[in-house]
Amino acid sequence: MSIEQRKLDHVRYALALNPSLDNGFSDLRFVHRALPDFDLGDVTLATTLGGLSFSSPLLINAMTGGAGRTEEINRGLAEVAKRTGLAMAVGSQRAALKDPALARTYSVVRDVNPAGLLIANLGAGASLSDAQRAVEMIGADLMHLHLNAAQELTMPEGDRSFRGLLEKIQAVVEGLSVPVIVKEVGNGMSAETYRKLAAVGVRVVDVAGMGGTNFVSIENRRRSGLMFEQLEREWGQTTAVALLEAQPFLGAFDVIGSGGVQSALDVAKCLALGANVVGVAGAILRPLMEHGIESAVEIVEHWHEELRVILTLQECHSVAELRERPLIVRGQTAEWSRLRGID
Ligand code: FNR
Repeated sequence: MSIEQRKLDHVRYALALNPSLDNGFSDLRFVHRALPDFDLGDVTLATTLGGLSFSSPLLINAMTGGAGRTEEINRGLAEVAKRTGLAMAVGSQRAALKDPALARTYSVVRDVNPAGLLIANLGAGASLSDAQRAVEMIGADLMHLHLNAAQELTMPEGDRSFRGLLEKIQAVVEGLSVPVIVKEVGNGMSAETYRKLAAVGVRVVDVAGMGGTNFVSIENRRRSGLMFEQLEREWGQTTAVALLEAQPFLGAFDVIGSGGVQSALDVAKCLALGANVVGVAGAILRPLMEHGIESAVEIVEHWHEELRVILTLQECHSVAELRERPLIVRGQTAEWSRLRGID
């Protein structure tokens, strides 16, 4: 199986498998405030992450590149990012490190959006020199290192060796020219993982929780023979839980909330749980692929409008203020917090 074919499979199955799993957001409720004393126009959506300024708290998360046809998808995503002011990540650039002819399928995002915030992407085992090449390939402002052990282990051709991963992350964090974000890909993170990452100097994490795009599910569809059925349904932390697990680390990390984000209210809930920025992958890919650029732009603009409404109804002028607002945590998410001793 070539890397190029795998990239196309990921897009195809991500679109075919509608996210139906619980991301935990329905367990979270805001406390409505009936008496705002400022105007909707006073609200700003600007935020910061890794020392950089973002005009919107939304981010188009890492998806694709590395196969001829993915250039068109990245061009479309970059157009959406440019027109809506969103930061954008490309998918894993490993394919282009192996075959430089594929670099174009990633660097197209810089051509389309010369002034935009862009994030490079490689697996967390990457060497410092490969990470620096990935940054330079797209003129990136930040670098993603992804943790995807569940995906690799359920992928027939995936990695089986993880020895030394944390030391490799540390070398990239210490040597790279741009800030590093360590992200999951849809199984979420826990306090145990945050603690290890904080100890080697990581300062930005993307929780990438369970409840949206599910790579165990995608890899199951790519297998012949028996599948990892229960791991598909039950393995990982929902996005709500992954953000709750991050609470003791909010002083050490800037946080991207992501995984199954499907609405402006989901975005607001991530922010209220301390996220600086919220990543969306499948929910932007789907309208882009099914209805085109205009449709994806319209959705992002509507989310921005709805976010301003939510901030006003929370009496918040800014994302930073929303991060201080309480959420009521119910159901299985509350039960998890109680059993894990999270306040
Ligand atoms: C992804 N994702 C991903 N992540 C990463 O770090 N490197 C990658 O190459 C990819 N590839 C990729 C392909 C496709 C088609 C999708 C939909 C997603 C994972 C992505 O960035 C995100 O963490 C998860 O998709 C969870 O977010 P959503 O889709 O539930 O919003």
